[in-house]
Amino acid sequence: MRKLILAAASIAALTFVGPASAQSPIVIKFSHVVASDTPKGKAADKFKELAEKYTDGKVKVEVYPNSTLYKDKEELEALQLGAVQMLAPSNSKFGPIGIKEFEVFDLPYILPDLKTLRKVTDGPLGARLLKLLDSKGMTGLAYWDNGFKQMTANKKLVAPTDYKGLKFRIQSSKVLEAQFRALGAIPQVMAFSEVYQALQTGVVDGQENTWSNIYTQKMHEVQKYATVTNHGYIGYVVIVNKKFWDGLPGDIRDQLSKAMKEATEYGNGQSAKENDDALAEIKKAGKTEVVTLTPEQDEAMRKAMMPVYKDVASRVGQPLIDEFLKETGRGPMN
Ligand code: LMR
Repeated sequence: MRKLILAAASIAALTFVGPASAQSPIVIKFSHVVASDTPKGKAADKFKELAEKYTDGKVKVEVYPNSTLYKDKEELEALQLGAVQMLAPSNSKFGPIGIKEFEVFDLPYILPDLKTLRKVTDGPLGARLLKLLDSKGMTGLAYWDNGFKQMTANKKLVAPTDYKGLKFRIQSSKVLEAQFRALGAIPQVMAFSEVYQALQTGVVDGQENTWSNIYTQKMHEVQKYATVTNHGYIGYVVIVNKKFWDGLPGDIRDQLSKAMKEATEYGNGQSAKENDDALAEIKKAGKTEVVTLTPEQDEAMRKAMMPVYKDVASRVGQPLIDEFLKETGRGPMN
């Protein structure tokens, strides 16, 4: 795969003709792994619309949804090599490329709601985390929401003991690995595009994701139960290849920044509704039973996942977790 990405990168380098002229728009390839009809998919399409409008066609944005260009970890490599210019990977996917500080976003129950999340991403910590991307040849432009994760399986998941021995697909994240181990389950890293088939064929027993991802990937059709846990958050960092971004004419970069700001407001303004709508559709389809937990059952899940905090602290340091918690204005078990 690396060879293919390298070939694509050299073609991209040859066809990048520098400052835009009437004949040759600057092309931004924006690759992502989810469906167009999701919070990320819609924000990406909005960015395309606004970027092309504000630059008066001097920039052309090509959006490639649903892993049509690259799968999870390949897309980060493709961005670093310049084969694509823009991505919006989930926070979870930055740990494996060496920016482990993003692991804090994966901590179970660290965020009670999206408003609290915004305090972190719009605050000093959010800005500092984005700056860390520079060292990897990327520029962080924005934080985009998806929403909160739910658990699905062919077994009814109520108590922590229900997870014991089951195989769960996870994104490539040490935190998520620790989370499922804390539940006695077996985590298995897998690209997002492969999850449906893995669930269908029984390669894994379950998975965690947001309602919009579950619905648009049709996971609810191959899982008997979905438990409303809201135990973790999936959000994205919009990144561009730093060399590409720094090399753009200043006026174009300003117009693109404006388009990004507005696309972010648009996307983040409706992500919660999109997940609510997806849940309603899942219920309507009637193929999976949606299970809600009592406050006591919810508390037992929180307790079972607490060891994950220690695990993450051993890698990113307790001060970073404390800073995150301070900016949210609450502790993990509140
Ligand atoms: C996943 O791999 O489950 C998610 O990160 C996919 C996505 O981009 O929402």
